[in-house]
Amino acid sequence: MNKNQIELGKKIAAERAVEENVKANAILGIGSGTTVVYAIKKIAELSLNVKCIPTSFQSHQLIIENNLEMASLDQYPEIDLDIDGADEIDNDLNLIKGGGGCLVQEKIIASNSKKFIIIADYRKQSTKLGENWKKGIPIEVIPMAYIPLMKKMEKLDGNPQLRMAKAKTGPLVTDNGNFIIDVDFGIVDNPTNLDMKLRAIPGVVETGLFLGMASKAYIGLKDGKISVME
Ligand code: A5P
Repeated sequence: MNKNQIELGKKIAAERAVEENVKANAILGIGSGTTVVYAIKKIAELSLNVKCIPTSFQSHQLIIENNLEMASLDQYPEIDLDIDGADEIDNDLNLIKGGGGCLVQEKIIASNSKKFIIIADYRKQSTKLGENWKKGIPIEVIPMAYIPLMKKMEKLDGNPQLRMAKAKTGPLVTDNGNFIIDVDFGIVDNPTNLDMKLRAIPGVVETGLFLGMASKAYIGLKDGKISVME
């Protein structure tokens, strides 16, 4: 994988998505991850007097660093547009998210947005979920339940792993004070069914399966072109 091609892919996808979709005075959801960094820089550059609602500690910091106006879901329960990255995108625009550990707030913001647009580089495109993203589906869980939950994931034919923190011994703790279990289910043939089963288990806060939520994805390709999925 060429690092420069990947970064270029993220940048062109993010910038094009912002140019084509962000309108003056809009209420925006600001996703998390490395691709969103390019989007927020572009939003700041355009000086469109937008209000930005973060989806994580990281995006909160990005809004401040780029001198954009911070807003909250309390003030604006209906968001005009949410722009976010993804770990994998299938042919139907279903997504795996949460590779950066921020899925719960991301899903809340996406579900309260009139338009949810994905920006990503070419590595993220798949025919089916689980094809390219091999780290498993991120599932945010209540810490006290993680051992029985791991056993239940195995019963659903998953291979669960508690995500560990970096530069600290012990598990990663999310922005909401929870743990994340990454569960490898192989290639997911029926994401809706899997999501339903997972969310029905007490202790599961949310899954990284974002199904039927995105309306468009901008994918930055290796050759500097952009593929738009709708
Ligand atoms: C954050 O937890 C994720 O959902 C990100 O949106 C996703 O991992 C994409 O991140 P990158 O833009 O860094 O690939």
